[in-house]
Amino acid sequence: MKVLVTDPIADAGLERFREAGHEVETAYDVEGDALLNAVSDANALVVRSGTEVTPEVFEAASDLVIVGRAGIGVDNIDIEAATENGVIVANAPQGNVRAAAEHTVAMAFAAARSIPQAHARLKDGEWAKGDYLGTELKGKTLGIVGLGRVGQEVARKLDGLGMDLVAYDPYISEERAAQIGAELVDLGDCLDRADFLTVHTPLTPETEGLIGADELERVGGYLVNCARGGVVDEPALAEAVEKGALKGAAVDVFADEPISPDNPLLDVEDVVVTPHLGASTEAAQENVATSTADQVLAAFREEPVVNALNAPSIDESAFPRVEPYIEIAETAGKIATQLLDERIERIEVSYEGDISEEDVELVTASAQKGVFEPLEWQVNAVNAPQIADERGVEVTESKTRQAADFQSLVAVTVAGTDEEITVEGTLFAGEDPRIVRIDGYRVDAIPHGHMLVARNRDEPGVIGFVGTVLGEHGVNIAGMFNAREAHGGEALSVYNLDDALTDEAKRALETDERMMEVRDIELNGTA
Ligand code: NAD
Ligand code: MLT
Repeated sequence: MKVLVTDPIADAGLERFREAGHEVETAYDVEGDALLNAVSDANALVVRSGTEVTPEVFEAASDLVIVGRAGIGVDNIDIEAATENGVIVANAPQGNVRAAAEHTVAMAFAAARSIPQAHARLKDGEWAKGDYLGTELKGKTLGIVGLGRVGQEVARKLDGLGMDLVAYDPYISEERAAQIGAELVDLGDCLDRADFLTVHTPLTPETEGLIGADELERVGGYLVNCARGGVVDEPALAEAVEKGALKGAAVDVFADEPISPDNPLLDVEDVVVTPHLGASTEAAQENVATSTADQVLAAFREEPVVNALNAPSIDESAFPRVEPYIEIAETAGKIATQLLDERIERIEVSYEGDISEEDVELVTASAQKGVFEPLEWQVNAVNAPQIADERGVEVTESKTRQAADFQSLVAVTVAGTDEEITVEGTLFAGEDPRIVRIDGYRVDAIPHGHMLVARNRDEPGVIGFVGTVLGEHGVNIAGMFNAREAHGGEALSVYNLDDALTDEAKRALETDERMMEVRDIELNGTA
């Protein structure tokens, strides 16, 4: 597998790929056609915030399985396009939280004590002791916009320094805020009460420009932004500090990075700036690089990707129990869809017995993958639920602890307006996947390879006839199972074949009036 890394990450991450036997190509600072070219044969793309992962990147990268973001913010990755193309996007949300929070605290002090300004003048030989009268943090109010992982860590640190905490975050509970010692308030209150306002939201359409000229007027003290450029309006911030509406600001992140030399923030003396250094510590870079590598490797092994942002997730410890049912559900979906004669309106995935106790999100997504794979290109467990949604196919999941015949059973039903087909599968002896019921008929079929499913009259000689026709057309039968409603009625027979059923063989079978329906089912790929 080829891993393309387009922003620098710690060597420990690159080593992990090499140790696992994968090819690593580093191509830093590539963009435009050069990026499209580099990614065209990549199976994984690893980035930080520097690479814009646009829809064109996904279109150019037909073998791409995963984009790993060695860090938190994914505003540079088009997740919708990733999902449409069946590509997992995973980030490393834990590894640099402490680094980002420490940098935020450092920036608050830097702004409050004018450390960079005094430092620069002293290096120029000027002893400007009388020009700086700073502000202490203790006893002041910290307003936190966005009380997530970094916001909470900043809150803990500055609470420890004796600040009062207020926070604005519409998505967390008052209880959670109270545990951290912060009072949850609305944005206006947060701005009015803050002596220091620190921003820790992601950049989303909702947060873009959240802190503009009017909001800055209400703060009055200092503003720190170590989250994302674009959340704070840069010209408005420059102006607010310049005219003294704010005492100072400290900014690590910018709407355009690298920052343009004419960015107004660079001209304002009391604005401290750093070039997106929040996560730049050795420990943080090692953490995010290895965590990202682990997720890419898991995706290559088709194991759960713990920090996937657009794929069904599953607890790693539960994966071994659930894994065999992924194949069963996918196969059941494939068989059902190839037996249905109508447009699919509904998919139902039901779980009986032990499996119903597990987190089956990934299994249900795999059943949908199985249903759509014979009909669609490029479907996988990441984009299958989206395809269902786009096609207006209703998907339901049901669970019951009660199991009739098997310890665990997964049933996939596909339904049109007038017809529905249910295919059920289980694990024999806890390890052998089997299809055990098709459309109500009890069968015993191995769920892979080529299959022939026939509905025929239950009469002497029919099975012999099928065997003869297949033999004449060079198709070897690996196994077969015949199930019938009643003696002399309708039967359903399932043949596991070593070779694909040829069109001629299928036609030859269909010529016999005892054969009511003949379906070749392809379980390895698209039929
Ligand atoms: P997080 O997802 O844990 O927390 C974000 C918080 O913002 C959540 O609690 C969410 O509810 C809240 N939020 C979302 N929309 C909001 C809105 N409209 N108003 C108020 N709050 C809102 O993310 P995190 O890990 O804490 O990261 C926070 C930010 O810091 C991200 O933008 C991330 O990219 C950035 N970051 C920067 C650096 C750096 O190098 N400077 C390093 C790490 C993280
Ligand atoms: C992040 O969101 O994790 C930061 O932007 C860190 C980075 O990759 O520089």
